[in-house]
Amino acid sequence: MDKLTIFTGTSNTALARNICKELKIDLGDLKVDNFTDGETRIKINENVRGKDVFIIQSTCSPANHNLMELLIMIDATRRASARRITAVLPYFGYARQDRKDQPRVPITAKLVANLITRAGADRILTIDLHAGQIQGFFDVPLDHLYAVSIFVDYFKKKKLKDIVIVSPDVGGIKMARAYAKRFEGGLAIVDKRRISDTQAEAMHIMGDVKGKNVIIVDDIIATAGSIVEAISALKKNGAKDIYAAISHPVLCGPAMERLKGANLKELVVTDTIPVSEEKKMANVTQLSVASLLAEAIKRIHDEESVSALFE
Ligand code: R5P
Repeated sequence: MDKLTIFTGTSNTALARNICKELKIDLGDLKVDNFTDGETRIKINENVRGKDVFIIQSTCSPANHNLMELLIMIDATRRASARRITAVLPYFGYARQDRKDQPRVPITAKLVANLITRAGADRILTIDLHAGQIQGFFDVPLDHLYAVSIFVDYFKKKKLKDIVIVSPDVGGIKMARAYAKRFEGGLAIVDKRRISDTQAEAMHIMGDVKGKNVIIVDDIIATAGSIVEAISALKKNGAKDIYAAISHPVLCGPAMERLKGANLKELVVTDTIPVSEEKKMANVTQLSVASLLAEAIKRIHDEESVSALFE
């Protein structure tokens, strides 16, 4: 472990500290602050020559600021002669802009992937990408972790009966199927139509949810438009208690207001993105991905299989 160094930006320092605790190492000495004009200033205060450096940074809100911090940390580490640099992105922001879904729009997820690799990242480590294909946007090795086992362990303790896993849109079927398999439960899908950035409409429910305990699974909860629509459609179709297991708590705009009025028993998220105290409502539970990331970092450092983590 003597060649392993972990740095963090300011996006999710609590998670970075917990990863270091799991690995029983100190967080690397890297200072992040700002010049008077607002530009980001980075200074590495230890020797990283020949080191295997992991830089932890979620590109969550403020996304542009956190992305820039990440790029500058990678640049500083590369110029300080690290042997290998892994960008650890517990949450990869801009992931939803992964295709041209209308004329004259960018593919920003690809642009961000280019920026990270051009800055000098040799590898990427991330969790629950919005779409699996985004792996191909990076022309360096990428390890993709899944939070499914963390959620399954949590929900299994509740000993819920008659579980149906629900995907709030057709894009999430693969993820929902993985959960349904682990829970040995049924599967249902919400036929969702997105009206705007903040509004979605649930058209139909495909599958039987009557009298069942439902767990909605998704990669992102942002404005909560998708989930509140799904909840009301599920209730109309006779669902019993409704839970949600969502990897990345973006929770922006009207999300908290919407959730307060929703018939949701519990929202379970991870700590890939910090959740502020004001957003920690009584029925929001945050599970940590620190041990999952720590184990993956250890395996990458030791040149061991990462996929073996999922067996
Ligand atoms: C969409 O494809 C994603 O998986 C999420 O369902 C979506 O991004 C959630 O956004 P919001 O909470 O704003 O509806």
